[in-house]
Amino acid sequence: MRVESGLVDNQKGQTEKEIGELKSERIDSDGVDKGSRKNNRRRDKKPLMAAATTTGMEASVVQMLYNTCRKVFARGGAGFIPSSKDVQRLQLVLDSMKPDDVGMTPEMPYFKAPENGGVPPITYLHLYECNKFSIGIFCLPPSGVIPLHNHPGMTVFSKILFGSMHIKSYDWETAQPPGIRLAKINTDTVFTAPCKTSILYPSSGGNMHCFTAMTSCAVLDVLGPPYSDPEGRHCTYYKEFPYCSASSSSSELASEDRREEYAWLEEIPPENLVVVGAQYRGPKIVLASEDRREEYAWLEEIPPENLVVVGAQYRGPKIVVK
Ligand SMILES: [Fe+2]
Repeated sequence: MRVESGLVDNQKGQTEKEIGELKSERIDSDGVDKGSRKNNRRRDKKPLMAAATTTGMEASVVQMLYNTCRKVFARGGAGFIPSSKDVQRLQLVLDSMKPDDVGMTPEMPYFKAPENGGVPPITYLHLYECNKFSIGIFCLPPSGVIPLHNHPGMTVFSKILFGSMHIKSYDWETAQPPGIRLAKINTDTVFTAPCKTSILYPSSGGNMHCFTAMTSCAVLDVLGPPYSDPEGRHCTYYKEFPYCSASSSSSELASEDRREEYAWLEEIPPENLVVVGAQYRGPKIVLASEDRREEYAWLEEIPPENLVVVGAQYRGPKIVVK
């Protein structure tokens, strides 16, 4: 699907709430860990409130997310992968996010299973997209499935805002010709919010994944760069076959105890996938002026070419002229 999601990792030890609170206190509106600025205190003498603003008001968490994405993907586009420092910076912002930050609750209509018992539709709430990154939220009713698909050349950050979700993901084992290809399982686990954001990369971290909602789920995704047909980043869907179901010359993988780590993936059309777009109604993102260019156009005066206006007689109620 053109709008994607990713992997998460359970937080152990300290509770997520505690961690979220600690982290949210440590980051500013651009997602910079304040601790990392300890050597720049002279430059950062401005009050925190002023630093955390975009339009003179205190920045919302979703605004902070957008601001951070702009920094992290400033040089983004085809082939771009953020530095590990920038990955941590964005992860820190996402880790702190809660359903309230985007105005989401499990009671919203997007999470109701269909009364006729059919395939539950997935809803996508679009927050922002440019050629460098996109931000959106997938809403999955219970039993909703986003089938196995890839993210070519992308870095994807995913944060489960609420709910429990089974995630299975793969990475290609080796460079192989098109057709049925061997992939290694990266993740095969149920994750329950609150849990940490996770990240997949072009060739690691579970670049191909499948989501199955165990309960109502909302997943916030940041894709950098987004899918783009002109740039060759198409979304491809796959069907998986057990490793032992096909004969292979890759006998070095065939040891009994390792076979379950692998599967064969075959490209398929996206059958039975229904994704409905809906308007995001949470806290607004104030776009930077450079990102508002699409709202404007230049108008040039021209002669009224090709305009034909035909006169015809008015036959409605008469007007009495006094
Ligand atoms: Fe995805």
